[in-house]
Amino acid sequence: MNEKYSFETNCVHGTYNPYKFNKSRAVPLFQSSAFVYDSVDHAADLFSFNEEGHIYMRIDNPTVKEAEGRIALLEKSSGAVCFASGMAAITGFILNFLKSGDCIIASNYIYGGTSGLLNDTLPNLGITTVFFDPEKPETLEKLITKETKLILIENLANPALIVPDIKKIATICKKFTIPLAVDNTIATPFLCNPIDFGADFILHSCTKYMEGHGAIVGGAVVDCGTFTFDKDKYPLLHEEAPGGKSFVETFGKKAFLTRLRGKVLMNTGGCMAPFHAYMLIHGLESFHVRMERHCENAQKIAGFLSKHPAIKTVCYPGMENHTSHTTAGEVLRKYYGAMIGFEIKGGYEACKKFINSVKLLSHTTNIGDTKTLVIHPASTTHRNMNPEQRIKAGLSDEFIRLSVGIENVDDLITEIDTALQNTMEDLQ
Ligand SMILES: Cc1ncc(COP(=O)(O)O)c(C=O)c1O
Repeated sequence: MNEKYSFETNCVHGTYNPYKFNKSRAVPLFQSSAFVYDSVDHAADLFSFNEEGHIYMRIDNPTVKEAEGRIALLEKSSGAVCFASGMAAITGFILNFLKSGDCIIASNYIYGGTSGLLNDTLPNLGITTVFFDPEKPETLEKLITKETKLILIENLANPALIVPDIKKIATICKKFTIPLAVDNTIATPFLCNPIDFGADFILHSCTKYMEGHGAIVGGAVVDCGTFTFDKDKYPLLHEEAPGGKSFVETFGKKAFLTRLRGKVLMNTGGCMAPFHAYMLIHGLESFHVRMERHCENAQKIAGFLSKHPAIKTVCYPGMENHTSHTTAGEVLRKYYGAMIGFEIKGGYEACKKFINSVKLLSHTTNIGDTKTLVIHPASTTHRNMNPEQRIKAGLSDEFIRLSVGIENVDDLITEIDTALQNTMEDLQ
């Protein structure tokens, strides 16, 4: 299976060849910590990354390798390395090429965990971050200094569901020879391949739509193979690799991912468990079908909410009044994603009553599950922000976030309508 097949076929088959795995039709689960070597020379070649093969679960594993190949294929990219979670992937990605004294410029619409990493953890290692508004790419250029080594943005950044103009941002990155990384977790490769707009690296939490059933945590770093790491600016990629020469000299286009696996995974250990890779692959087989239903359901629910008398505002990029509507139409394929934000008339009390009265909708923090999930971000996921920061992030105290699942949409609408009516009656 390869690039000649369509997205849907690649979701189902990936890079898997049953004839290489005892003709097992399903991708097998290789639940083994270690793999035996043919000889001392073979082991030495594997440890030098001179030969393809498997060493030890922390570094690689055949089931994880198929998940990596499948994600790389879906992102039209040259390769991927999987991690224990989305946060482990983002951390590993940054540690692979940034060092003390380096600076990141990140979107100010970014997942809370990532913002914790950038604001709390990395400054202790001497890596600092400044933030910019991704809807104003023109503000980026004047923030760039000689210490700036990475631009990091999110596609369909939640909860405000901002879609950045990736192409414009990538053009600025190229002008200053700085890599652009796009966290594509929420848009997913079903809606957008950031490589088409000039991204150099793509980050994923596989916990969300990719596995899609809310059953694992996992992450991936995808290398688009487009960025060349200058020796003075990015010395870590020019460190000595096994064999005596630098990673770049030894592995060329594969240098970044080889170092990520051979140094970061090897030394820090945040690998994806094979069972999680197995679940992820099974999730990916129906990814395209699920995404279609997720997005169609979200579109219908957003339309329903926008006409409901109990609703103050609806935040959905498919609606003309959303600030990212035009860009979303250019960046995303066919649909506008499956997340919706909305404000209920009646403030925090109304939100509480609404969430406490839903039954089919699950009250939880995750997203990208087959089941529809609901949460009040201001009192949970974003409670650490002060009210001013929350408003800047598009989050009032009346804001509710929906991750729309793949249930029957009429059942979902009936449930939401009933809960809204109960809320309004209780508040009268
Ligand atoms: C956009 C985005 N990136 C990264 C993550 C972190 O992923 P994980 O929970 O798998 O560590 C999340 C989690 O919600 C996310 O929404």
